[in-house]
Amino acid sequence: MTISPLRGELTIPGDKSISHRCVMFGALAKGTTRVENFLQGADCLSTISCFQSMGISIENNTSRILVHGKGLHGLTAPKSVLDCGNSGTTTRLISGILAAQPFSSRLTGDDSIKKRPMGRIITPLIEMGANITSESGNGCAPLYIRGQNLKGISYCSPVASAQVKSAVLLAGLYAEGITTVTEPYLSRNHTELMLGGFGAKVECNGSTAALTPPKELFAQEIFVPGDISSAAYFLTAAALIPGSELLIKNVGINPTRDGILRVYRDMGADITLLNKRTSSGEPVADILVRGGTFHGTTIRGSIIPALIDELPIIAVAACFAEGETVISDAAELKVKESNRIAVMTEGLAAMGADVTETEDGMIIKGGRPLKSAFIDSCLDHRIAMSFSIAGLLCGDMPHIKGRDCVNISYPDFYKDLKRLMS
Ligand code: S3P
Repeated sequence: MTISPLRGELTIPGDKSISHRCVMFGALAKGTTRVENFLQGADCLSTISCFQSMGISIENNTSRILVHGKGLHGLTAPKSVLDCGNSGTTTRLISGILAAQPFSSRLTGDDSIKKRPMGRIITPLIEMGANITSESGNGCAPLYIRGQNLKGISYCSPVASAQVKSAVLLAGLYAEGITTVTEPYLSRNHTELMLGGFGAKVECNGSTAALTPPKELFAQEIFVPGDISSAAYFLTAAALIPGSELLIKNVGINPTRDGILRVYRDMGADITLLNKRTSSGEPVADILVRGGTFHGTTIRGSIIPALIDELPIIAVAACFAEGETVISDAAELKVKESNRIAVMTEGLAAMGADVTETEDGMIIKGGRPLKSAFIDSCLDHRIAMSFSIAGLLCGDMPHIKGRDCVNISYPDFYKDLKRLMS
């Protein structure tokens, strides 16, 4: 396989985090929320189907959806267990909403979801008065939730997690009094921005968000920006292939999500943001990236939540950089759709990289030539896409088991990859 420069333009699909929230907040708002550029990935479709099971009518016309909200108190009891599929965002955020409904519900998902920690949301929700149990007693789904009257709390989260923060704030929509969440570092703030847009009062100060329960939420018109987490794959490829010049259009560059741009610039990438604007309350730009060379760096501390989903592809980039890259403070990677520290270390080592797994990250010495290997994606979309780009960069595509899992967040990934490679 020859390695040709990536040239031209690319429009990547809508942001996954924002798409989920459009459905959830739209369902709880009065009136019809119209969403353009909605991500038709399996995770967001799981969120749609959960709310349809609770009596919300949602019209899905490919990239546009209409959510016919029934107000804060309009959900009805689901007739069967709510299936969250592979989606941690669906499971955790919905739990916050269900904790306050006048009915009981059960939540489950696939094998990966049944291993992911839910204690992190169960603990604060119980403090608010919720009645939630992990049916298998291991702190994971399936969850049984019996709706209760809740009270606002001030919660200091031990992890910087937008899913935890959002679950607590969503429960706070129904609680008596103000609900406050403080995180060790600020995680993505789409919930705070979007709930504000839907009419709730959310005050933010550093890594603290405080929600005053609103009387109602009101339907919105939303254009979902392209997902920087999906842009990350082609951004990486173009930045590392000499002669590339790729314009990635309409990408969300929210400062709580743009860590990859900061790190890549620090590693020497040639990245220019064009046409910066605000779209539905979110900062957006077109990203122009030109091929060049990278050098190693250190990634740790407060920037980690702003690039947590991009660390697998950043680890790939580090293999092609000159010198050493150290990633630390990223233990959260172990509890994603797979253990991303272990799976990336194993796969990159199989391809020939010099990579060492640590307690909370990886150490990568760049510059060793990579070659094809057998990679198990563990049905983790970000693993499958990261190793596809590793293959593109070394000119020797790995065999990726479970490669179709990219449909979780980027259904057309291989189509775009093929187009850009030809
Ligand atoms: C998300 C938050 C992050 C991220 C996930 C989406 C969200 O998870 O990894 O892909 O939409 O709130 P954590 O909150 O567990 O860090």
